[in-house]
Amino acid sequence: MSFFWGSWITILSLGCWLFIFAVLVWTLRSKPVLDEDETTGHSYDGIREFDKPLPKWWLVIFFGTMIWGLGYFVLFPAIQPNVWKGVTTVEVDGQQVPWTSANELNSQLQANNRVFIENFEQNILANAGASEATAILAKLSDLQAQRKTNEKNEDLQKQIDEQITLLAPYVDKLAADPEAQKAGNRLFLQNCALCHGSNAKGSVGYPNLTDNDWLYGGTADQILLTIHNGRVGAMAAWQKQLGESGVRAAAEYVLKISGNQNDYTLDEAKVAQGKAIFEQNCVLCHGADAKGLTAMGAPNLTDDIWLFGGDRETIRTTIRHGRSGVMPEWQSKLGNERVMLLAAYVRSLSQSAE
Ligand code: HEC
Ligand code: HEC
Repeated sequence: MSFFWGSWITILSLGCWLFIFAVLVWTLRSKPVLDEDETTGHSYDGIREFDKPLPKWWLVIFFGTMIWGLGYFVLFPAIQPNVWKGVTTVEVDGQQVPWTSANELNSQLQANNRVFIENFEQNILANAGASEATAILAKLSDLQAQRKTNEKNEDLQKQIDEQITLLAPYVDKLAADPEAQKAGNRLFLQNCALCHGSNAKGSVGYPNLTDNDWLYGGTADQILLTIHNGRVGAMAAWQKQLGESGVRAAAEYVLKISGNQNDYTLDEAKVAQGKAIFEQNCVLCHGADAKGLTAMGAPNLTDDIWLFGGDRETIRTTIRHGRSGVMPEWQSKLGNERVMLLAAYVRSLSQSAE
């Protein structure tokens, strides 16, 4: 917290307390000059003002609240929070840390999460006959805890991915379980529908998850890795390297191999030129048969399923400027258990389309 906001809090809390205390002391001390009849001499509509002491019960309550207030200064970081953290603590990541509203929120979120995980393990996993996944999940979260302090360790990431892959058979079990599907569907609507649509059929740039056409693969382990770590599509821009005529030739070839769904009159000379360009530049990712490579996230270019669009101008734009769709990672936001449920849900969607 900056010094300014720390001071702001101090003035509002301690400053207010001192001000009220000072006013109280001042009124207790001040003795107005009294007339002989013990009044102050003020008279309002015939009612005369005496100078009587404040009632005891009122004073007791007043001082009581001030002492109560002092208690708060001890318990909470109400005075320059950078200096005095208060003695109250909450539990975050298994450790007692000083109270702040952010720590309290985290603590409560983690407590909720523990309830969720308990329910996931004892009911959902157990009912689907997938209880053995619990041991893998424990190992996985251990490794992830290590990654927190050791971010750039590639070997650690490999071990993490290995554990994720081991979860695949249990994801398949969950995919066949109606209860797990229901939970997965809820999570999907909350987190994924924004991009992939509430029916998961996607839109331009956001893949349809209900068909059997995959950028990164549709087996349980591939889907798990996609959701867990996220993916970034890497289709380079070719305009500089191929020139506009090269871009057009390559596009013409893509139209041809995809079956020319829009019935364009194709320029066969360009198609031939495009074939040569393709073989030289594109097969590395899209494959020699242009059917795509899941290891690269490169789509199949021979079918009628388009991520960005299959009309001539869109294909040219794709090749000219490149594309880079971003699928965010979800592990840090949702945790391993929810990622499992989501992978199972996505898997069930495409299985029912088989
Ligand atoms: C911000 C938008 C966005 C959100 C939110 C999002 N995705 Fe994605 N997702 C994408 C994009 C874009 C791609 C394609 C990446 C690419 O072009 O390489 C993708 C790809 C995928 C794939 C791979 C599909 C394939 O063909 O291999 C899966 C599976 C997937 N998302 C599942 C999910 C799930 C489950 C969620 C919710 C937890 C989710 N996505 C949330 C944008 C999003
Ligand atoms: C480095 C790997 C790589 C190379 C090389 C590459 N591509 Fe791609 N291409 C991709 C990826 C990955 C995507 C998907 C991008 C995304 O998901 O954001 C893609 C997407 C496309 C699409 C869009 C398909 C759709 O469904 O909308 C077309 C068309 C395409 N590439 C054509 C080509 C052509 C033609 C070449 C050669 C000139 C080429 N690509 C070279 C990786 C590559």
